[in-house]
Amino acid sequence: MASANVYPPSSEFASRAYVQGMDEYRALYRTAAERPEEFWGELAEKELFWFEKWSHVFEWHPPFAKWFVGGKTNVSYNCLDRHLATHRKNKVAILWEGEPGDQRQISYQELHRLVCRFANVLKGRGLKAGDRAVIYMGMVPELPVALLACARLGVTHSVVFGGFSAEALKARIQDLEAQVVITGDGSWRRGKEVRLKDAVDEALIECPSVKDVIVLQRTGSAIAMKEGRDHWWHDLDQGASEVCPAEELDSEHPLYVLYTSGTTGKPKGIVHTTAGYLLQVTATMKWVFDLRDEDTYWCTADIGWVTGHSYIVYGPLSAGATTMMYEGAPDFPQPDRFWRLIEKYRVNIFYTSPTAIRSFIRQGDQWPNAHDLSSLRLLGSVGEPINPAAWEWYYKVIGKERCPIVDTWWQTETGAIMISAMPGAVPLKPGSGSLPQPGILCDVVDLMGKPVGDNAEGFLVIKRPWPSIARTLWRDPDRYRQQYWERIEGVYMTGDAARRDEDGYYWILGRVDDVMNVSGHRLSTMEIESALVRHPAVAEAAVVGKPHEITGQAVACFVTLKKGNWNHHELGEELRKWVAHEIGSFAKPEQIRFTDSLPKTRSGKIMRRLLREIVTSNTVAGDVTTLEDLSVVTRLSAQHDED
Ligand code: WT7
Repeated sequence: MASANVYPPSSEFASRAYVQGMDEYRALYRTAAERPEEFWGELAEKELFWFEKWSHVFEWHPPFAKWFVGGKTNVSYNCLDRHLATHRKNKVAILWEGEPGDQRQISYQELHRLVCRFANVLKGRGLKAGDRAVIYMGMVPELPVALLACARLGVTHSVVFGGFSAEALKARIQDLEAQVVITGDGSWRRGKEVRLKDAVDEALIECPSVKDVIVLQRTGSAIAMKEGRDHWWHDLDQGASEVCPAEELDSEHPLYVLYTSGTTGKPKGIVHTTAGYLLQVTATMKWVFDLRDEDTYWCTADIGWVTGHSYIVYGPLSAGATTMMYEGAPDFPQPDRFWRLIEKYRVNIFYTSPTAIRSFIRQGDQWPNAHDLSSLRLLGSVGEPINPAAWEWYYKVIGKERCPIVDTWWQTETGAIMISAMPGAVPLKPGSGSLPQPGILCDVVDLMGKPVGDNAEGFLVIKRPWPSIARTLWRDPDRYRQQYWERIEGVYMTGDAARRDEDGYYWILGRVDDVMNVSGHRLSTMEIESALVRHPAVAEAAVVGKPHEITGQAVACFVTLKKGNWNHHELGEELRKWVAHEIGSFAKPEQIRFTDSLPKTRSGKIMRRLLREIVTSNTVAGDVTTLEDLSVVTRLSAQHDED
């Protein structure tokens, strides 16, 4: 899909940028492509602290990659300790505002103390490198403290987004056999309390691996505390030593596991390791976000998703940024909360999702227009395709036509941004993620792996491993191989359809597998189908994504019922609630349609692409998604199905 407007970087932005102009971008890209080991090796020496240098940069036993083999480092050390000997010692590391309006500013020095204390708390519970901690918290500063404390000890963490239900939490704790759960009493969202501890209690009924639960007091509401198992964070923290040396960990030590939806009912535990991951999130803070020391940087994601891991916590802190966090909803108490925060804290770099942008458009320009947004110098978008109309609005109404927009394409599996403009170099085309980052060799191919050429649609693949690539799936290397490396021989299959134009710009068209993208959150059709068929009334279920004006896609369900006399209206409501209970409220279906039978192939596979056409053709989509030619995705999905 071509767009008429192209926006080159202003000379003012370019002249101060980290990467200035296309020649510099091309030179970086070329070096990384032609001499990858030299490129990444030099960068690793420059950007990271090492206890011990690696023996070689890269090892590749397809499909398993290792980076900086033999090196010893520590993510927490890189995010904290190394800044303490610099001018950043008293710089604000985390700038936080709670939904009720409470504020905290935590300097690097202070954050280091908090992390050391909490790491000692974890040590005191007997945790050590290789153990697993599940973290289920709201967006409070103690969440990054918990992450960094785990990283300091080599305890592999797994953050479960606070919007997930007890059921989903339980499945993740069980899969990881976590020893500890770190949580809070609750968290504030739209003026209401999200009762985190209640969900933990429900989940833990069937989680024998968990010995300890550490509970942060945030809302102060009444919760149950189980004797011997549950401890208040503030009780354990009292008297904890502030000295806790960072463990010297192997480059490939597993830093975290983050569960994401795949094409089956069972979520995949994406495993990220230490050095390569940290290097690439650090480098992209400069290449993509053009981070300067004086910037106030705000990524509005939740730390429960990969965006928050890489671009609220690890990338920004490693790069020495002031990273802002906000606890609550964007429209609380009024639709201008984000603009209020930008004005109040003089935010310079603002990174959010197309779903958020589209809902701001609907609320009306009077909300941003009532605030001084002149501190902004760079805008970002992530999670889903941004339609050109939303892009133009973001550019004009928020950026006042001064701020470049980086549309960043990446995935939980990629760890760091793969495709995005470097804002001082690459001319922007609204709706396109533009060009790949250094070291990222993308292509658009058919199922045989043959490049389809300019302007043709095909599967987006990456031809060579990069430092922050997911190493495997937790305890399931076979699934890792099958999912990403066997569909198309020898390349990493992203699961997205794309087109590359004559300037080399990538246009992401959407998923080709049974994965939906609702508000930039990845949901699996199969996961929702499995939840539905667990309900006693349901015989069969088929779930597809339906184009939605605000959230990109919405969950549409086709359900056949067991024999009985059902009230469709009541049952529809009940099933929507059921899915929210089984997975989380963000997965709640928009639509339940009852039907006598589902379309199937001769081998009995549900033909979701037909259902996709049904839910798509009776909506007027307008300019709401870059999926203009939905038949493309449908056709590619069909190929994928039949493979
Ligand atoms: C899927 C990955 C990584 C950030 C959060 C989502 C879609 C992501 C873009 C973008 C078009 C995008 C893709 C991708 N996606 N960013 N800028 N333009 N599509 O992470 O949950 O792992 O989902 O989100 O379909 O495959 P995730």
